[in-house]
Amino acid sequence: MELIQKIRKNAAKNPMRIVLPEGNEERMLKAAHIVLEEKIARLIMLGNPEEIKAEAQKLGVDIGNATLVDPLTDERRDLYADMMVEIRKSKGLTKDQALELLNDPLCFGPMMIKNGDADGELAGSINATGDVLRPAFQLVKTMKGCSIVSGAFLMFVDKKFGDDGVLVFADCAVMPDPNETQLAEIAVVTAKTAKAIVGLKPRVAMLSFSTKGSAKHPLVDKVTKATKLAKEMAPDILIDGELQLDAALIKEVGELKAPGSKVAGKANVLVFPGLEAGNIGYKLVQRLAGAQAIGPVLQGMAAPINDLSRGCSVEDIVNMVAVTANQAIGMI
Ligand code: ACO
Repeated sequence: MELIQKIRKNAAKNPMRIVLPEGNEERMLKAAHIVLEEKIARLIMLGNPEEIKAEAQKLGVDIGNATLVDPLTDERRDLYADMMVEIRKSKGLTKDQALELLNDPLCFGPMMIKNGDADGELAGSINATGDVLRPAFQLVKTMKGCSIVSGAFLMFVDKKFGDDGVLVFADCAVMPDPNETQLAEIAVVTAKTAKAIVGLKPRVAMLSFSTKGSAKHPLVDKVTKATKLAKEMAPDILIDGELQLDAALIKEVGELKAPGSKVAGKANVLVFPGLEAGNIGYKLVQRLAGAQAIGPVLQGMAAPINDLSRGCSVEDIVNMVAVTANQAIGMI
């Protein structure tokens, strides 16, 4: 996989500090060994240092260059708790509650980022998406100009699709039912992810079960309105919709159903109308077509924090550390 090797090498040029809250999970430790060996990132592993070291030794992996931090005893707890009280003052968070929350590595990690002690975070090998994302949303929040966070997947498919087999899908991970403005924002931010992480010149298809008015339904209207809004938000990006999947990807179908479109038949960014379609869609392509899926790459957050699928492999973790590090480099 040439492209992912490039992403790994690029990360190694300027190693970022990536915090791994699930510090003594077996796959995390095995991945940490590879990340440190390839110098893809500087790692901060959260948990009890003695337990992490013992587990690493048992597995025969070398994590000697990682920084081990115990959220239960770290000297920055007091500082972080004060910061949390300030960040969450509209919600009435007390210092005692903040200190209690900091016992959770999924809360401690985002606070390290917030205080400039880490550049990015990767978690989710043993925690559900919501538990990884909620503290990130609440403490790190969205970046300027973005109102929501969404999740993209880098999909490596047959070379006849996308750009030499590279496609970006979104939202496949976060927003269950985006409204038209949110969908437009997802389209624009995904185009930016496609450009920043995989170097694509984005051609964004706004997917639907209808192409250019072939069906009439409020769900189709949502996509046509989102398409118009996205074009207004980013007039320089090629965006078209509403398009069915075949019209988006297959030249002959695109020419037939959406003649004159600069996107139809050659899309490399697919924006799904909702999370049901997006999440099921990427897994279908991954499982039935044997595509490699890297992600979700969370986009729209003020700092890179990414979530893994609990079924992830060691290789998936290494790749996602590299993606997170590249996002962090892009934010310097
Ligand atoms: N972007 C930015 N902030 C958000 C977003 C978002 N997309 N969604 C919620 N928030 C914020 C809210 O504003 C709120 O902030 P506040 O406490 O300061 O007011 C906080 O996060 C919690 O919001 P809730 O509405 O209570 O959201 P909840 O925690 O119930 O759900 C979540 C958020 C977990 C992300 C939800 O949208 C969800 O479950 N999405 C689906 C995730 C999922 O299961 N994906 C599929 C699996 S992933 C995979 O297969 C790879």
